This record gives sequence, structure tokens and C-alpha cells, in this order.
Amino acid sequence: MEIRIFRQSDPEYLLSLILRYKILRIPLGLTFSKDDLAKDADDLHIGLFEGDELLASLILTDTGDHTIKMRQVAVDDMHQGRGFGKMLVQYADDNARKEGYILIHCHARDTAKEFYLKQGYKVVGDEFTEVGIRHYYMEKQL
Ligand SMILES: CC(C)(COP(=O)(O)OP(=O)(O)OC[C@H]1O[C@@H](n2cnc3c(N)ncnc32)[C@H](O)[C@@H]1OP(=O)(O)O)[C@@H](O)C(=O)NCCC(=O)NCCS
Repeated sequence: MEIRIFRQSDPEYLLSLILRYKILRIPLGLTFSKDDLAKDADDLHIGLFEGDELLASLILTDTGDHTIKMRQVAVDDMHQGRGFGKMLVQYADDNARKEGYILIHCHARDTAKEFYLKQGYKVVGDEFTEVGIRHYYMEKQL
């Protein structure tokens, strides 16, 4: 198993789109828009691979002022609950810290709030609705 960083122009990106579609979009009846894909262009993509198989991925987006947003966190449903999400988020936190970021933040689905709390993220503010479901703004000082 290895964690690899990739960009939208790399072949791994297609695998991550498939994973994101299956785990994050289909359950909500969503697809990808051109704007969604355009948003990925400058971002850092991080994946957990077993050989050529992508088991989990997430995206980091620079949001200015030494802050970074973690988004599109997805673990293949065959592999959830095996510590892979934790491994990937810890890697993202460490990588962002090394790159000089001081704060990492995300919009956490209500169903994933406890997961992020366990990784040291804190809820800031009230819940809000995004893509039709309840979310929380969560952040962690790096
Ligand atoms: C949420 C998700 C990223 C977690 O990844 P995972 O690999 O399944 O979680 P892990 O096995 O690394 O779990 C780490 C810890 O968080 C807990 N945890 C994981 N998912 C949880 C959840 N949904 N609710 C509460 N606790 C959770 C685990 O029990 C574990 O606790 P422990 O450290 O005390 O043993 C993954 O299940 C997933 O992709 N879910 C569907 C998509 C999604 O919700 N993405 C996040 C959008 S904001």
C-alpha cells in the first residue's frame, strides 16, 4: 500500500473521478459538472493505492493566507472502516504542515463529523446545507 500525490493531468486522476463519483456523487444523485472538474485543475490530489487500485483519495485546495481546504474525501466502500481514511487525512495534514500551511479546513458531511473530530478537527459555527445535506465547517490548526 502506498500514498501518492498526483495532479489532474496524471492518469491517477481518472481513477479518483470514478471513486468520487461512486462514493460521493451517486448516493446523492449527482454527477460532475464542467465547473466541478475545472476546480480540480490547480489542486493537489492524494491517493492511497494498492498496486494500481485506488482505495481512497482526497483533494487539497489552497485557500490563501497559508490555509488549505480538504475536500472530496472518499474511501472505497469495500475498504471503509479499515483506517485508510485516517491514514490519508493524517498524510494530508502532515503534507500541508510541511508546505507551510497553518490551518486546514473542510466542509464535513454530518455523517462524517465524528470521523473528523477523531482526527483533531473542530466544528466552527452552525450546520449548513450543501449538495442537499447537512454539513459542518471544521478546521484544524497545523
Ligand atoms: C468518512 C470516511 C472518509 C472515513 O474513512 P474510513 O477509512 O472509513 O475511516 P477509518 O477507518 O480511517 O476511521 C478512523 C476512525 O474514525 C471512525 N469513523 C470513521 N468513519 C466514521 C463515521 N462515518 N462516523 C463516526 N466515526 C467514524 C472510525 O471508527 C475510527 O475510529 P477509531 O480511530 O476510534 O478506531 C469514509 O468512511 C467515507 O469515504 N465515507 C463515505 C464518504 C464520506 O462521507 N466522505 C466524507 C465527506 S465530508
